[in-house]
Amino acid sequence: MTVLPGSLLPDNSAVSPEGRLTVAGCDLLALAEEHGTPLFIYDEAHIRSRCREAVAAFPDGVAYAAKAFLCQAMAKLAYEEGMQLDVATGGELAVALAAGVPPDRLVLHGNNKSLAELRSGLTHGVGRVVVDSFDEFTRIEALVEEGLRPPKVLIRVMPGVEAHTHEYLQTGDDSKFGFGLAGGAAGAALERAAQSTAMQLMGVHAHIGSQVFITDSFAKAVSLLAPVVQAVDAEEFSIGGGLGVAYVVGEEAPTITEWADEVKSAAAAAGIQSRILAEPGRAVVAAAAITVYRVGTVKRLDGGRVYVAVDGGMSDNPRPVLYGSGYEAFLPRSTTADRSLSVRVVGKHCESGDVLVRDAVVPEDLEVGDFLATPVTGAYGHSMGSNYNMLTRPPVVFVRDGKARLVVRRETLDDLLARDVPL
Ligand code: LLP
Repeated sequence: MTVLPGSLLPDNSAVSPEGRLTVAGCDLLALAEEHGTPLFIYDEAHIRSRCREAVAAFPDGVAYAAKAFLCQAMAKLAYEEGMQLDVATGGELAVALAAGVPPDRLVLHGNNKSLAELRSGLTHGVGRVVVDSFDEFTRIEALVEEGLRPPKVLIRVMPGVEAHTHEYLQTGDDSKFGFGLAGGAAGAALERAAQSTAMQLMGVHAHIGSQVFITDSFAKAVSLLAPVVQAVDAEEFSIGGGLGVAYVVGEEAPTITEWADEVKSAAAAAGIQSRILAEPGRAVVAAAAITVYRVGTVKRLDGGRVYVAVDGGMSDNPRPVLYGSGYEAFLPRSTTADRSLSVRVVGKHCESGDVLVRDAVVPEDLEVGDFLATPVTGAYGHSMGSNYNMLTRPPVVFVRDGKARLVVRRETLDDLLARDVPL
């Protein structure tokens, strides 16, 4: 039997005696009928509970990494639950501000912040700027020269830890992010920030990678960074984000609390007395969402492989194509059915690499017209979506206490044409 494990579904999921899935009291099939497919459905209480867990686990301050999934409703929710927001571009900054998040709750990131992005951050008075390069020092100094208020900054340091994750998701060793530790760049950057009148140095930031399961990697980063953290008597030390989540059967990930305990005890062991900060993205939102598609074609190839094509694909979830990431598939009409048919779930893009689930198992009776769902799609799906092949991007629905609210509407053909200069 390969039944979908309930642990991969949002917290407030339930299955009716006939096998129909509800999330927060809302019937998934009914939502798919009402809003159409593809459709992202988020369990709002699930997200709130992860935010609360993060705030309790990192009482000195914790930011939600908006890149994992952002819209105004999400920004507002994270703020309401006591999280700060990590924004990595002027666009993310604009959405957070539009949602009413106070600027001092925002942490401005980015390895190549433009002068305009920095100007916007400083003008609004963001809480922290995480400085990533010497060029950025020059830009901040120029803006302060213009009369803007000196920001409070953290210096992003590349600790030289190889996190156990996909190469594209590693940032700790040889990467474009931050100042290297071993070669002395980090020390020089901290020195420059400490001396500068154009900024107030608050501490050190590191982010070693994403989808990291092994909490040891974080502890290793903490001990490597301890000397620079102590050398500048940093008030704040941020471990960044990166905590992994389970996507498929058999995977297990540490909780946010376990991660925080590991980081805090490593910091204590290394003699770090700074406030310990973090910025999880994936661990807050990934498992809160399910994407629902409709099956359009089922092809049985001569070799035996079965291709199940759905009405979305790499434009709503590029992770399988980009990183070879695995997902599960199931039918929300028979959630707990045995999944004994091996298939490949593919999208509708003009690209043979457009695969959503390379080695999926689904119930034998799957047929054209069925709604097919993939769980754990709440992080880096919607946010990395595209308009490839001019597909309109899917809507997002938040469900809570038996009620569904549309927080992002489906893109329209007019939206697709909106930026074209009329002929
Ligand atoms: N802080 C910084 C500075 C980051 O660069 C990131 C993620 C985070 C926090 C949040 O990391 P998380 O807790 O979500 O792992 N597109 C990839 C993930 C890229 C992560 C980029 N930075 C994926 O789909 O797996």
